[in-house]
Amino acid sequence: MSKKQKLELTWIGKEMRSKLEPRILLEDREKSYHAAHRVTDHDLFDNRLIFGDNLLALKALEQEFSGKLKCIYIDPPFNTGSAFEHYDDGIEHSLWLAVMRDRLECLRQLLANDGLIFVQIDYREGARLKVLMDEIFGSSCFKNEIVVRRGTKNVQSQFETIDALSTGHDTVYLYAKSPDARLPKLQALNEEGEPGKWDTFWRGTDRPTMRYEIFGIKPETGQWRWSEERGHKTKKNYEIYVEEYAHSLSLDEYYGLKKQELGIELDFIRLGPENTVQYYVSPRNYKILSDVWMDVRTSGKVTDFSHEKHEELLERIIRWSTSAGDWVLDSFAGSGSTGAAAHKMGRRWIMVELGKHCHTHIIPRMKKIIDGTDDGGITGTLKWKGGGGFRYYRLAPSLLEKDKWGNWVINKAYNPAMLAEAVCKLEGFSYVPSDSVYWQHGHSTERDFIYVTTQNLSHDQLQALSDEVEEGRSLLVMCSAFRGKPDKYPNLTIKKIPKTVLTRCEWGHDDYSLKIENLPKAPIPPGQMELLGEEAKS
Ligand SMILES: C[S@@+](CC[C@H](N)C(=O)[O-])C[C@H]1O[C@@H](n2cnc3c(N)ncnc32)[C@H](O)[C@@H]1O
Repeated sequence: MSKKQKLELTWIGKEMRSKLEPRILLEDREKSYHAAHRVTDHDLFDNRLIFGDNLLALKALEQEFSGKLKCIYIDPPFNTGSAFEHYDDGIEHSLWLAVMRDRLECLRQLLANDGLIFVQIDYREGARLKVLMDEIFGSSCFKNEIVVRRGTKNVQSQFETIDALSTGHDTVYLYAKSPDARLPKLQALNEEGEPGKWDTFWRGTDRPTMRYEIFGIKPETGQWRWSEERGHKTKKNYEIYVEEYAHSLSLDEYYGLKKQELGIELDFIRLGPENTVQYYVSPRNYKILSDVWMDVRTSGKVTDFSHEKHEELLERIIRWSTSAGDWVLDSFAGSGSTGAAAHKMGRRWIMVELGKHCHTHIIPRMKKIIDGTDDGGITGTLKWKGGGGFRYYRLAPSLLEKDKWGNWVINKAYNPAMLAEAVCKLEGFSYVPSDSVYWQHGHSTERDFIYVTTQNLSHDQLQALSDEVEEGRSLLVMCSAFRGKPDKYPNLTIKKIPKTVLTRCEWGHDDYSLKIENLPKAPIPPGQMELLGEEAKS
């Protein structure tokens, strides 16, 4: 039977996939940072900044954060081609797609069922990215292709003819995790505003209970817009306005004043021209937005990072897709704009960055925000005063390394606690070491535990463990070696490390990023093989 065909984008090496090692994250307390005092009752301290390659970082987050992130925003490198001058046409697209595919798959895993992912891109890879995202998230989860302004200098006026139009926009692809996702309406302040107006209080829908006498008029058909009680109340509201305020305030001003002072949106009805009863339609200061966001600034200037995005753009995205306390992630953090906006908005954040600007840009920027000394981005609009903190992490080295004979052994950099945590993660156990029970390093259920040791366990030690675990509970023992028959202890499962985990994932692979030195060699153009030696052909 022939294989069912589907519409998909293919590329060189699409079938090649990495078996990622679920690394543990190590906190470097010297680089973590917290405000000296609480500024509010809802300051957030458990934000995370991870220094390292985002593919391994996202894999490391899987155990704790799968299905927990409400908003993911990424602004990956746009594949300008500059890193690929040694490659023939098309190869760079394949490599870029492979990098993005692996990350987007991990991101989808982390996204909450009601979460949204926003990916900013330009014309260079936008079309390919859209097809890729359709494949990973499902085309039924596609929501919008949002157009945002791009800060470019137009130098074309000096030329007679041009190559192509200059680029004035980027695209932000928006996908939901679930095809049934409903989005809140998106509104923005309308500076011009639409003033309040009067409209007829009578409606054609026929409800006899809503036909009552007001201003001496009772409709014979149809109905009044509001109930009798509300109708009389709003009539009174207008009378108060006319008697006490109309000489000094327009109705719109009076409405705005009450809204601002008391948080009340007053209704009014009046007897209008030609004896028609009219109700007041309040001023519209907000407009409903479409997918064209030219009203929001996108290039940020808080730092000197050339690709910095404006906190205003991030604010719109985060406000629309999350509530206070929700998790927001950016795994291509750059100068840290996403975390900066999320922090000021009271959202929890995770950022991953592998460049040195993690230290030169993100940390100083977040410290200023926490100290309340930052005056950039959305600080003024949100009246941000400081507070909260973040923890700084780096990825642990690979759990296994090769010894001088080429055999995989446990990495010497691992101390017993790191080893226990890493093996728990590898085996899908939560790492919760007990203070009092030496063999309880973690658990998968209330009655299923894990014990990790580099010891060579004797029969007596295994028997003692089995007795302590007791009937009705089970223990996975991960040890370097053991003596005795494994089936002698009904409540123990005994496995050797590293032997039993060797094929589980790729060990010792530290960098999956799109760096030239990580890439396979450029293919040799056809017809030139014979010009090269045997070595080049292999
Ligand atoms: C376009 S910039 C993001 C700018 C960011 N939105 C801001 O406002 O500053 C892309 C960032 O992704 C980072 N990056 C690229 N590949 C990465 C990887 N594999 N892991 C982590 N970060 C990566 C780059 O170092 C760069 O800082």
